[in-house]
Amino acid sequence: MKGQFHPKNDVSLNTSGNPSIRDVIDAVDTSRRSFLKAGAGTGAVAVFGGFALAAVPQAAKAAIPAGTGFAGIGFTSVPPNLRNAATGKLFKDLVTVPIDYTARVISAWGDPIMPGAPDWDPASTQDAAAQEMQVGMHHDGMHFFPFTAADGTPSSTEGLLVMNHEYTDENQLHGAEGLTGGAGVTIAKVRKSQAAHGVSVQHVRKTARGWRVVRNSRFGRRITANTPMRISGPAAGNDLLKSKKFDITPDGSVDTGMVNDGFTAYGTMNNCANGYTPWGTYLTCEENWNGYFAAPTNGAVIDPDLFDQKPEIIKGKSRYGISTTGFGYQWHVVDPRFNADTNPLEPNTTGWVVEIDPFNPRSTPVKRTALGRFKHESAQVVVDANDNVAFYMGDDERNEYIYKFVCANKLNRSNPRANRNMLDNGTLYVARFDANGAGEWLPLVWGQNGLTPENGFADQGEVLIKTRQAADRLGATMMDRPEWTAVRPRTLGFEEIEVYCTLTNNSRRGNNPPSSNKPDGTTNAASANPPVDGANPRPDNDYGHIIRWREGGRSVMATTFTWDVFVQCGDKLATKTLGSSYNPAGHDGYKGNIVGDDYGAPDGLWFDDYGRLWIQTDQQGDGGGDWVNIGGNVMVCADPNTGATRRFLTSPTDCEVTGVIVTPDHRTMFVNIQHPGDSGTPSDPTKTSHWPFSQGYGPAGRPRSATVVITKNDGGIIGT
Ligand code: FEO
Ligand code: CA
Ligand code: CA
Ligand code: CA
Repeated sequence: MKGQFHPKNDVSLNTSGNPSIRDVIDAVDTSRRSFLKAGAGTGAVAVFGGFALAAVPQAAKAAIPAGTGFAGIGFTSVPPNLRNAATGKLFKDLVTVPIDYTARVISAWGDPIMPGAPDWDPASTQDAAAQEMQVGMHHDGMHFFPFTAADGTPSSTEGLLVMNHEYTDENQLHGAEGLTGGAGVTIAKVRKSQAAHGVSVQHVRKTARGWRVVRNSRFGRRITANTPMRISGPAAGNDLLKSKKFDITPDGSVDTGMVNDGFTAYGTMNNCANGYTPWGTYLTCEENWNGYFAAPTNGAVIDPDLFDQKPEIIKGKSRYGISTTGFGYQWHVVDPRFNADTNPLEPNTTGWVVEIDPFNPRSTPVKRTALGRFKHESAQVVVDANDNVAFYMGDDERNEYIYKFVCANKLNRSNPRANRNMLDNGTLYVARFDANGAGEWLPLVWGQNGLTPENGFADQGEVLIKTRQAADRLGATMMDRPEWTAVRPRTLGFEEIEVYCTLTNNSRRGNNPPSSNKPDGTTNAASANPPVDGANPRPDNDYGHIIRWREGGRSVMATTFTWDVFVQCGDKLATKTLGSSYNPAGHDGYKGNIVGDDYGAPDGLWFDDYGRLWIQTDQQGDGGGDWVNIGGNVMVCADPNTGATRRFLTSPTDCEVTGVIVTPDHRTMFVNIQHPGDSGTPSDPTKTSHWPFSQGYGPAGRPRSATVVITKNDGGIIGT
């Protein structure tokens, strides 16, 4: 997310007024601010192991006995990949893993994955048609769907690797002329950019020479920003989804003069993190979709047919961050579908969670509106002991919220097909974190709590299309950019439903004058200055933190939870200090309270089945500025009981580490490296990185996002 060409969620528009939980906790002893109290309704003394404040006594960790639910970390930390001050690059243009482990690249942006696809062209002069059959750009969240082995068990040697492509680096995508050089912004370039977005399905197999992509597999598939999709759930058919209908051709989007019926849409974009379902499908989450649209006149020239809705449309644009220019992709210049003045309802078709059946290459992806519309980061499933199903989700923007969706139906274990439309019926909740370590899930249900026609919500469909505005009205807690969620496995004696969420940073936290998202939903995206509170305890939260919560009664149906701050990230050697206006006793400022290897800007988050918490970072990729002691981006591994953390992987210059999954046997791990060397220019693409060529993969030419396969040299389980 810190990429040069990436939409910056920490630098956006906006102004807002929910009661902050600061108002409540100001009266509370600050030394006791961030650890948990007893879970409502559980009867347990659910005090979590928290490290939010140095002053928190060790006894506070007693509820989860050391060792429970955790099999240990066995590897030796790798050293940080620090910045070479003389070159401005990191010392190593490599992915580095611990001694006794090996990292090899399996595939990269532009590699062929479907029958008939051409090899990648290092000069990057291929067109959209080629890109539609090759791995997309800027890899992000990922899942491994195993084939069934001969003995009927899930294979750990063959399956489908399904991954998101978050965005494109237009400097690397269009050869030496770039997006704006040569013929300028053309429909051919924009179609190529759109083709590099979306999702890739790669058929992978372990061979005698290691893991390989099966390049002519019938399972190979690309889903792009132009793939036809179905819209389902409570918002399907809503008038607000009836945007202009275009035919998509290589030469341009042809206005049919009709409108969509609200049940169909084109494509998916800015697919950041992900999820999967127990019924075998992949979930891809649309994050910074707003940046592909632009409203050059800010509604001055709006579609005349929609003139009576103009004020609402403009309000909606500002709440979701659609601007007059977009983020620089320039799609709206040559593709009228993305002009939010002339096609102002089209943005309502994005911002959803999309469900994909990876094993059926002809299946139509489905936008599941019941899960709400925001800047979705990931969607992590929990099936509780009673087979109730919920998905936990963050909305990644400064001062946005954490959500969960609870399915109306229980998981049907005997008839998998009965689960096909589980994501269409259920209740969406948004989280309020209270000062005493308790919290409440607030239902986003039409007709309740002011979600009524007089407040701009005509029906449940409108509540979902305007999820952010609905959550504003309910008084949800503004968070420091919720990124991935991860669910702790209920194994090895650990039985709670415990969910973690990375809060990557918030440059506006604690700014003056203080303000909050207004209950009437009119706040511009990311414009508020929320005061610090228990759940977001640091002003100018540069390094970010990780919060976690436990559901009441070990049920995903719970409407109450308990929470604490798992860790405040930082740099123990930092000389930077917090503003003098904020200095509560015992606060450690930018030093954080990590036990072990320091990191910051946590983003990717995932638990393996042995209870190891894997954390991936997205900070400034050249190890400069605040990151001189931490170096480039990393993946670390943490013990959820003690917080003890070790650095497992370091990365090349100017990249982000994001996306992680293992095979069922935990002996192969896949990790994505996104946007290496993104300081490069069209005329000097390898200015700061030659990766993955520098790691022995593929031809030279320009840096490429790629997937790394990590194995332990003795064939053992990753993390041991
Ligand atoms: Fe795409 Fe929130 O990271
Ligand atoms: Ca990034
Ligand atoms: Ca990020
Ligand atoms: Ca992310």
